[in-house]
Amino acid sequence: MRMEEVLEQFLPSSELAPQRLHQAMRYAALGGGKRVRPLLAFAAGELSSAPLARVEAVASAVELIHVYSLVHDDLPCMDNDDLRRGKPTCHVEFDEATALLVGDSLQSLAFQIVAERPIAHSPSLQLEMIRLLALAAGSRGMAGGQAIDLASVGKTLNQTELEFMHIHKTGALIRAAVLLGAHCGDGVDSGQLDAVNHYAQCIGLAFQVVDDILDVEASTATLGKTAGKDAENNKPTYVSILGLNAARELAQELHQNALSALVEFGDQANRLAQLADFILRRPF
Ligand code: IPE
Ligand code: IPE
Ligand code: MG
Ligand code: MG
Ligand code: MG
Repeated sequence: MRMEEVLEQFLPSSELAPQRLHQAMRYAALGGGKRVRPLLAFAAGELSSAPLARVEAVASAVELIHVYSLVHDDLPCMDNDDLRRGKPTCHVEFDEATALLVGDSLQSLAFQIVAERPIAHSPSLQLEMIRLLALAAGSRGMAGGQAIDLASVGKTLNQTELEFMHIHKTGALIRAAVLLGAHCGDGVDSGQLDAVNHYAQCIGLAFQVVDDILDVEASTATLGKTAGKDAENNKPTYVSILGLNAARELAQELHQNALSALVEFGDQANRLAQLADFILRRPF
């Protein structure tokens, strides 16, 4: 896939010092994953006729932050997982300190890319996009959601609290992928941006609801990560709080809402609609 080549080029060579850190960054980022966030950025870019090179840069930045979040998520101090994308997790293949530094370095690389590549038609929009990515990754986005996830172990959250956690730990970065893709072009007005934003919020939450369902329903072999980990770690999830059927219904409802938000775009939003279908029906 094209995205693999693009990431390959952005990542430092494994021959460059410090070699072991660069090898571990490449190990974590290359050769696996569904690349849903990059696909969303490309699909959203179609709404604004965005130049490909700009979308490649923002898609890479979001994917690198996502990979960093997975490397840290798998550490013994978080979910303590030993399988990711069908391979031993980064800290198992390398070591914990290296995995920490891989996360740090992937995040920095992401911001380096969006700072040095032209990703918008004006410097002020480019800065706004970098700010959007920073907010999505930080304590009011993904990292904040992860903090809530860890603080919720063994607790019973109500649905509002659960939604707050999921919107942050997973929804924020997915939303950023969509909005950044759309911002790469200049053909979207503010009303349309609201519609794209609504789509992104719905599929961002749906993505984690489905992840919770798959943790219960799918096998380790299909997932490429350890199945049943949420129950083992005593995590509150949509399945543990609502049950499988209600979780499935919620995912379907969010999928419908996401599709409704796209109506005004007509055929231009076909790929975003297909990705919403994939997020709902994905096998892993
Ligand atoms: C897994 O994300 C972690 C969550 C945010 C639910 P993905 O299911 O997108 O993982 P990859 O990128 O395909 O490995
Ligand atoms: C992780 O949620 C979300 C992030 C990595 C930010 P999970 O802990 O459910 O993800 P998986 O199931 O390990 O991929
Ligand atoms: Mg986790
Ligand atoms: Mg996990
Ligand atoms: Mg999970």
